[in-house]
Amino acid sequence: MKKVLEVIHLDVYYGKAQILFDVGFTVNQGETVSLIGRNGVGKTTLLKAIMNIAVTKKGKILLNGADITNLPTHAIASKAVAYVPDYTGLIPGVSVYDNLRLAVGRKNIDITQAEEIYPEIRGLLNRRADSLSGGERKITALLRALLMNPTLLLVDEPTEGVSPIMATRIYGILDRMKKSGLTVLVVEQGTRFNVLSKIADRFMVMVGGKIVWESTTERVSEEIEQIKRFLAVGA
Ligand SMILES: Nc1ncnc2c1ncn2[C@@H]1O[C@H](COP(=O)(O)OP(=O)(O)O)[C@@H](O)[C@H]1O
Ligand SMILES: [Mg+2]
Repeated sequence: MKKVLEVIHLDVYYGKAQILFDVGFTVNQGETVSLIGRNGVGKTTLLKAIMNIAVTKKGKILLNGADITNLPTHAIASKAVAYVPDYTGLIPGVSVYDNLRLAVGRKNIDITQAEEIYPEIRGLLNRRADSLSGGERKITALLRALLMNPTLLLVDEPTEGVSPIMATRIYGILDRMKKSGLTVLVVEQGTRFNVLSKIADRFMVMVGGKIVWESTTERVSEEIEQIKRFLAVGA
């Protein structure tokens, strides 16, 4: 199986404060891997470390076998890694269409691919990004990443603060992206575990900046029960 992302012995710091400790894992081509953990354990820091945003680190990060550990963020993004931060990163004062267009970097863009996944996007194109609901903002950010034609998608808490119905919709969108061949690393808190377990191939659990638990594909259904107990999520 082709390895798209390899994180090897990664220690991450903000200044002198160490946040991640010897983190190591692999995401294979076409997989959706989910990193779960409570608030403050270091999930966002891991995504920022992969993108080389505002952290110091030791260890190695490989993308399709090539070392990207110390590349500047824009160079990592230009290697087709799309990062959807928890705050979405949409530009508030401009239209949805312009948000999509600016991310792709062209004057005119074809949104067919986005429309196939979320037909309602057509009706939102002329709306200002800051007039969207929380869920619509999350979806727009995912579609924007998709239009950038990434090989690896990093998503931080795509369902944070949205209704359960919207969360199911958002996971449906992520599932479609996965089925189109995208490799996905999605970060969530344990509370979304029940829905997430339907679309992710593998799980990792983070506690205190360490990956304390990793599932294997073969035993995922038994392991889901174990993870639920671990996170104390209702069945
Ligand atoms: N820019 C920063 N400077 C210093 N400490 C930070 C910074 N960002 C986050 N932290 C700390 O790092 C830890 C992990 O944060 P974070 O990665 O945001 O966790 P999570 O995404 O799992 O909620 C927390 O203790 C948080 O306070
Ligand atoms: Mg976070």
